[in-house]
Amino acid sequence: MARSALPRAVFDFADGGAEDERTLRRNETAFDRYDLLPRPLEGAAERDLSVSLFARRMAMPVIIGPTGLAGLFWPNGEQAAARAATASGIPYCLSHGSVCTLESLAETVASPRWMQVFIYRDRSFTQELTARAQAAGYDALVLTIDNQLLGNRERDIRNGFTIPPRLTLQQAFGMATRLPWLLRMRNELGRITFGNYVRPDEISDIRTLAGRMSSLLDPAMSWRDVESVRAQWKGPMLLKGVLHPEEARRAIGSGIDGLIVSNHGGRQLDGAPASLRVLPAIVDAVAGRAPVLIDGGIRRGADVVKAIALGATATLVGRPQLWGLSVAGEAGVAHMLELLRREIDRTMGLMGKSRLSDLSRDDLLESF
Ligand SMILES: Cc1cc2nc3c(=O)[nH]c(=O)nc-3n(C[C@H](O)[C@H](O)[C@H](O)COP(=O)(O)O)c2cc1C
Repeated sequence: MARSALPRAVFDFADGGAEDERTLRRNETAFDRYDLLPRPLEGAAERDLSVSLFARRMAMPVIIGPTGLAGLFWPNGEQAAARAATASGIPYCLSHGSVCTLESLAETVASPRWMQVFIYRDRSFTQELTARAQAAGYDALVLTIDNQLLGNRERDIRNGFTIPPRLTLQQAFGMATRLPWLLRMRNELGRITFGNYVRPDEISDIRTLAGRMSSLLDPAMSWRDVESVRAQWKGPMLLKGVLHPEEARRAIGSGIDGLIVSNHGGRQLDGAPASLRVLPAIVDAVAGRAPVLIDGGIRRGADVVKAIALGATATLVGRPQLWGLSVAGEAGVAHMLELLRREIDRTMGLMGKSRLSDLSRDDLLESF
């Protein structure tokens, strides 16, 4: 439904990945490599899907992951998705590249909400965003480490999708064929910007900000930078984009409180392994010292159950949230989350498992 609701360039911006989209495809097909091995007579008449993370209980092991420009999919998209997450009892993670500011999201929803940042070439900007997130009462900080250069997303190039958007004939035609979206967004389009990058008394049009943003990415980031953010942020801090067990081990040694095994939804390094494939090795490397989360390719409750059985504490969803948003705003995201909740619950029931902590690698078989 999102495909038919959105202009093609906008749909592809979210749906697509880098280069040949190998990693993007593998994220999803990796879940097919495992079968679920049920034990119906264990009896699971009632299932508890809740999980504890950073001393808070969440209703199910799902978090809405950070996705930039969510406000392009629905008016005030970030606020709408965050409200749906809060109503479902799960955390919402705001992207650095949100249309709204982190302060306005903080006014919209209470905890738990997380904030995602990068290491910027201008380190003072990382410090500034971190300080703003702290002041606005965010519960956790997510430092994404796999966006030090922008991935080569060829669908965006073919579609002429640029940030800032250019109104070419192709774009105008694409928008005109999606009238409901255009009508909904008519008052928004001129105001779409990277809210967190707007500084008082500065030019804030998206062209200027997009330029600043890409010039701010820094391929020279290092552990020292991670440690300095760690020293600044008071509260749980996660690294997102970890795929190597050694990097996971070192992160925990550097005082990181949680890891997100992720390849950015296949949007950055094409050829990186599926997140699920490297999850067991990272869980083993961390050896219970910190929660390990995972994103990439989670589409069904059964995928969540498989990730938990392999040792993840929780999962994040990126695109499914944007599809819900594109179709029905807050109600669409709420519906997507409810579908996931029911699927996790039903899968647990069919597996004969009452609690997520009852799941282990013994409940999976490698499929053939
Ligand atoms: C449109 C879009 C924008 C994204 N923007 C960000 C971002 O700003 N920061 C970040 O850490 N990850 C970003 N991601 C990656 C997601 O957080 C997540 O890792 C990925 O979407 C998970 O895969 P899934 O879409 O298969 O669930 C983005 C993903 C999409 C689809």
